[in-house]
Formats: sequence, structure tokens, C-alpha cells
Amino acid sequence: MQTTDNTIFITGGTSGIGRGLAEAFHKLGNKVIIAGRRKKLLDEVAAANPGIEGIELDIADPADIDRVAARLIRDYPSLNVLINNAGIMPFDDAGGRIDDTQSRSIIDTNLLGPIRLTSALIEHLKRQPRATIIHNTSVLAYVPLASTAVYSAAKAALHSYALSQRFQLRNTNVTVQEIAPPWVDTDLIRKSGDPRAMPLDIFIEKTMAGLATDAEEVIVDEIRALRDNPGSGEHAFVHGFNESVVANPIPV
Ligand SMILES: NC(=O)c1ccc[n+]([C@@H]2O[C@H](COP(=O)([O-])OP(=O)(O)OC[C@H]3O[C@@H](n4cnc5c(N)ncnc54)[C@H](OP(=O)(O)O)[C@@H]3O)[C@@H](O)[C@H]2O)c1
Repeated sequence: MQTTDNTIFITGGTSGIGRGLAEAFHKLGNKVIIAGRRKKLLDEVAAANPGIEGIELDIADPADIDRVAARLIRDYPSLNVLINNAGIMPFDDAGGRIDDTQSRSIIDTNLLGPIRLTSALIEHLKRQPRATIIHNTSVLAYVPLASTAVYSAAKAALHSYALSQRFQLRNTNVTVQEIAPPWVDTDLIRKSGDPRAMPLDIFIEKTMAGLATDAEEVIVDEIRALRDNPGSGEHAFVHGFNESVVANPIPV
């Protein structure tokens, strides 16, 4: 994508990867609007980065999505980049009883949220001279972490959706890019300094470089083997990956 001269809406801009991307695009001179539920953090990011604006949004609420989409189209007619980044990652046990409320919350936030928001903005994006939709999936879309089964499944579904959407938009001015992060040291799990987690600033730097290309997927080299896993041998691969996590648990 062209990383300058855009009007960008980023969900989940109150912390972690979303805030990092918002600030990186802001530094490049783009108009950046961030969204999240925590008003205090929206104000904090805006105050720290004059020019960034914040909008309260619960991405799990379809009515809120419609309200915010209408406001965006009205107040930011040049809006041409949507970054679907907001997400949650609760742990679960697919080998036991699954909490239905939690599962619905994951699907509403991580899968239906991006689908609904994109749907609400797509005709507006098509009217722009150039536009980009970015979906933040996860390396876990390709190799599920067994202790976050519903999260991993939702991210695999979002990856699949992005593939279909890219094809459907092939003859338009709207391109679709996917960011599939490795484990990045944010509040998503618990910021821990674990050496297996990539520091946020390094991840943002690499991701901005990847987004500046025409790559459909932006993946850091450190997880290339995990991304390339799907295939008929994936059962053993996934088993081995999860055995290694069980042997050296993620701090939660
Ligand atoms: N960190 C990793 O290791 C990693 C790896 C792969 C993929 N990812 C993906 O990267 C994205 C960002 O995660 P992160 O690591 O930056 O974690 P984070 O610091 O916890 O950020 C999550 C963001 O999502 C927003 N959010 C959550 N639920 C929301 C809701 N219902 N409505 C609106 N906003 C909501 C939060 O804002 P509010 O709380 O203010 O609403 C927050 O800004 C997620 O989609 C995650 O799945 C992260």
C-alpha cells in the first residue's frame, strides 16, 4: 500500500499493535483516527500525538459499528484505509466444557467485528481513488495454540474471509492486506518480557516496511515456518508446536 497521504481508521488503537500502527502512520503524515472502548486511553493517545482523533467503539456491537461507520463517512469523506485490528484472546479448553458467552464474545469481536465494519464501509472505500483494507489475523490462524482454540479458529476464519474478499475486490481500487503477527509483547496475553515474544517496536518497524510493499500478507521472517505449515503434514506440526508450549508455558 501507499503509506502516505491516507485517512486511516484503526480499531483497537488504544494499546499494543493498534496504537503502534496508529503512531507510525501518524508520523508519516497520514490522518489517523483510532477506535476502542476505553475513552481515557483514546484521549491519552490523542494528547500524545496531536492530530490523531479517537472515537469510542465497541466492535462487538453491530449497532455501534453502524453508528461509527456513518459518522466516519460523514466526518472523514477522504477515509481510504481501514485497519481491522481490535481483538481479544481469552484462553479456553477445547478438551473440556467451553464457555459459550466467552466464545460468542471472541467471534463477535475478532471475526464478525471486522466483517461488519468492512461491510459498513466498503461502498465508501470503493468510491475513493485508492483504498486498502488491512486485517490483523495471527500466526495462530495457521498453527492453532490449543489453549486458545476458539481464538485460533476465529483468526483462521478471518484469514479465509480476507482471501475471499481480495478476490471479490480484484477489479476495484480496493486492495486487501493481511498482517499475521507472531507473539508480540502486548497486553493481549500479559506483557511479560518473555524472550519468545517480539518487542512491540521491532514488530511495528518490520510491519510498516511490509505494508509499504504490495504483499498480500505481512509476516515477519521469524514465523515463516509456522505460516508455511498448512498442508497434509500439519497434524504432527501442530502437535509438536503445542507440546513445546506445554513444556514451556506462556505466562498468563
Ligand atoms: N500480541 C500478540 O501476540 C498478537 C499476535 C497475533 C495477533 N494479534 C492481534 O493483534 C490485535 C491487537 O492485539 P494487541 O496485541 O495489540 O493487544 P492489546 O494491546 O490488548 O490491544 C487490543 C485492542 O483491541 C481493542 N478491543 C478489544 N475488544 C474490543 C471491543 N469489543 N471493541 C473495540 N475495541 C476492542 C482494545 O481496545 P479497548 O480495550 O479500549 O476497547 C485494544 O486497543 C488483535 O486482533 C490480536 O488478536 C496479537
